[in-house]
Amino acid sequence: VSYPLIAPSVLAADFTRLGEEVSALKQAGADWVHLDVMDGHFVPNISFGPAVVKALRPCSDLPFDVHLMIAPVDPYLEAFAQAGADQILIHIEAGPHTHRSLQRIRDLGAKPGVVLCPATPPEAISEVLDLVDIILVMTVNPGFGGQKFLSSQLPKIRRIRDMITQSGRDIRLAVDGGIDAATAPLAIDAGADVLIAGSAVYGKKDYATAIAALRTHVAK
Ligand code: DX5
Ligand code: ZN
Repeated sequence: VSYPLIAPSVLAADFTRLGEEVSALKQAGADWVHLDVMDGHFVPNISFGPAVVKALRPCSDLPFDVHLMIAPVDPYLEAFAQAGADQILIHIEAGPHTHRSLQRIRDLGAKPGVVLCPATPPEAISEVLDLVDIILVMTVNPGFGGQKFLSSQLPKIRRIRDMITQSGRDIRLAVDGGIDAATAPLAIDAGADVLIAGSAVYGKKDYATAIAALRTHVAK
């Protein structure tokens, strides 16, 4: 595996041809398929649910990275696992029982991940580091694609990279929101090893070229 991993966000795909849009990713050099689930409650937008994830499952053998922007999460974890989610990410802000929910995700056979909104300090996840395989730092406020990268989040990425190193565990550190060829190097230098990108991949004509452009920078 070579880092950073690239996880295109299907939110920016052409929804009239969703199957083809997901099928195209492997050939274009993507590592994961990022699926943004929004409930119109935790975030001010509605996207799609487990039925769509299930319908897309046969379109790719890349890992499905399912980003749940929903609250509560517990009633839906099983449905997303059964729909074929390989990785299920929940927000630390989505409820008081993140610890239990992360264990439940593991029990369901998926990799658990935790996500932090821009206003949440890195220490908020210190007690769940032993339960997660992925940490996702939002570099925009969740809910919409195409927003501007918040460079205020870079110190948080650095801090979480240190926390991961100290934990001694193999945890991916992902960034999501406003990632393009210009902002990717900032996130990578701060310690991110997974880049989630919607518009910077699906907004371009040639997905392979777009993904390659995100990969060029090597961490210093
Ligand atoms: C935002 C989503 C992101 C979004 C990123 O709430 O979590 O995954 O699709 O879109 P871009 O890359 O366009 O900022
Ligand atoms: Zn996302």
